[in-house]
Amino acid sequence: MEGPDGSGKTTQIEMLKTYLESKGYDIVITREPGGTVISEAIRAIILNKEYQEMSHMTELLLYASARAQLVNQVIKPALAEGKAVICDRFVESSAVYQGIGRGLGVSTVYEVNNYALGDVKPKLTIFMDLDADEGIRRKENQTELDRMEMEDLSFHKRVVEGYRQLAQLYPDRIFPVDATLPIEKIHSIIVEEVEKRFFS
Ligand code: TMP
Repeated sequence: MEGPDGSGKTTQIEMLKTYLESKGYDIVITREPGGTVISEAIRAIILNKEYQEMSHMTELLLYASARAQLVNQVIKPALAEGKAVICDRFVESSAVYQGIGRGLGVSTVYEVNNYALGDVKPKLTIFMDLDADEGIRRKENQTELDRMEMEDLSFHKRVVEGYRQLAQLYPDRIFPVDATLPIEKIHSIIVEEVEKRFFS
């Protein structure tokens, strides 16, 4: 599940989990960066707003490190046990935030992340499509902003445009959903797509 901050990913993940459980699946949910003790420690470094001097490449490699740990410690074992995994952010976050937002290039991001992912590939990426300013407005009441959230509007606009470009380029694996729709409607669109791809 991908999208800008404030796009409603967490709500939709919970609803998708309930739906998939009703189909008999055991569900594991992960969030990035994080999801293991080591990945959470890396998250604390990445998002620490005092580390303004962090280079873009350091940032990319730290996200990939947190991901490598998550893949090996949580995702691979879960898949091996036959569970379904829903990820709150995965490699496409790096593609847009570091590749496009930071300007490191999407191909560099995929190259680095190939080491982190090995043969683990998402079967479907759902992109919660929301304008950057609306995402920021939805998070307005949040008291403390982290290092990424402190970036200016133009950065967040590049991120959303990046998601849109990737969704256009790779329609087979990235499915965009209008995140301004009512919550229940979004859920039914997602379920329809999941049904189509996995259960028909
Ligand atoms: P969260 O607020 O959704 O937990 O994500 C933390 C922030 O990290 C969010 O602003 C998006 C950003 N991020 C990246 O820049 N690259 C990545 O690879 C990931 C997973 C998140």
